[in-house]
Amino acid sequence: MDLFEYRDGVLHAEGVSLTEIAQAVGTPTYVYAQSAMRAEFAAFQEAFAGLDHLICYAMKANSNKAVLGSFAAMGGGADIVSGGELARALAAGVPAERIVYSGVGKLDWELEAALKAGILMFNVESAQELTVLDQIAGRLGLKAPVSLRVNPDVDAKTHPKITTGLAKNKFGLDMGLAFAQYLHAARLPNLVVKGVSCHIGSQLTEVAPFVDALERLADLVQRLRREGLRLEIIDLGGGIGIRYNQETPPTPREYAARLRPVLEGLGLKLVLEPGRRLVGEAGVLLTRVHYAKTTPAKHFVVVDAAMNDLIRPAFYDSFHAVRPVAQNAGNGQRLVADVVGGICETGDFLVRERDLPVLRRGDLLAIMSAGAYGFAMSSQYNSRPRAAEVLVCGQEWAVVRRRESIEDLSRGEELAPWMI
Ligand code: LLP
Repeated sequence: MDLFEYRDGVLHAEGVSLTEIAQAVGTPTYVYAQSAMRAEFAAFQEAFAGLDHLICYAMKANSNKAVLGSFAAMGGGADIVSGGELARALAAGVPAERIVYSGVGKLDWELEAALKAGILMFNVESAQELTVLDQIAGRLGLKAPVSLRVNPDVDAKTHPKITTGLAKNKFGLDMGLAFAQYLHAARLPNLVVKGVSCHIGSQLTEVAPFVDALERLADLVQRLRREGLRLEIIDLGGGIGIRYNQETPPTPREYAARLRPVLEGLGLKLVLEPGRRLVGEAGVLLTRVHYAKTTPAKHFVVVDAAMNDLIRPAFYDSFHAVRPVAQNAGNGQRLVADVVGGICETGDFLVRERDLPVLRRGDLLAIMSAGAYGFAMSSQYNSRPRAAEVLVCGQEWAVVRRRESIEDLSRGEELAPWMI
């Protein structure tokens, strides 16, 4: 669904002109189309209809309260990876019994907070984490619901920095060791063994690696059954890709159709942790051209957003499409240019060597497919206040996170006492 379209020559987010938002809120600003997010969530629900399932949105992709609240209102849960995410999810109205907790480095206070909140399950990633969780649960007089996150060693065929299910990655428990760990976990007094989970990587554009992983997990589930250990939940993680350029990722329906036969045979509750897919294409980063600059080697368009706002191009060399907000920008003249930010790093670019309209000071641009891992990975590097976030729904729009102020930059800082 393309919810960013030109109307009367101006790019709109649903029914709202991006020019209007830029004038009212300034730039850089993240703009999210709520209908697109809801439509993606509904597509998952429909694809798995008839199977007992729970969609736990991987909130690391975009943890804005309004985004989380949109999914919570549709029956969604959350996949969390920190105590901070736990607090945000609960505050946004995600019920604790719809929260799963992943991550290799859960801290003691985080385990304790999640136990007290009563989450659905901990996706445990090491033998030592099992021991620590058992001890903390015992001290609190609680039982910890656990699943072991296994590493199925399948190649997700995605960018090396976002592949997670290979044996050499830090994530999960080795498949060969998982069986023994299950028998061990079942004997620990303060744990309740609930399920099995995996997450093989992000931005996957094929279904086959998911099917491979599911089959390996299904095999483990059957072996455990023969030992008398009955699981209730299978969690396949997230990872379905989106379209940044020419990719053709599977739809939730295609994904579900390939998994369904194996899942039906298993009879377990399915948990999924999609992040990017639910929010990525629904968001743009709105930025204004500040300077156009030509060196002997290249043309540069310097904008007011930078790598501190959207680090994906610098970090993963990732592609984001860019569209001028005014359809007639450049009046038909085009040029190959880099779109760069004002940060003092050569790696600070948003777009490289792209055929673009000739852009002038004051022109607005939308960096597309920026709803996932955009604001969430932003920073204040170079002492730049973080961008505002706006949510659009039909003709309505609202600021759902105000732009940071200059005062926000040094909040909490003090001189040392001997300096005063
Ligand atoms: N579950 C677990 C345990 C994860 O580690 C992740 C993502 C997800 C679910 C959600 O994956 P998704 O559906 O969004 O692909 N910053 C990178 C992506 C890092 C993904 C990390 N884990 C990027 O900008 O491409």
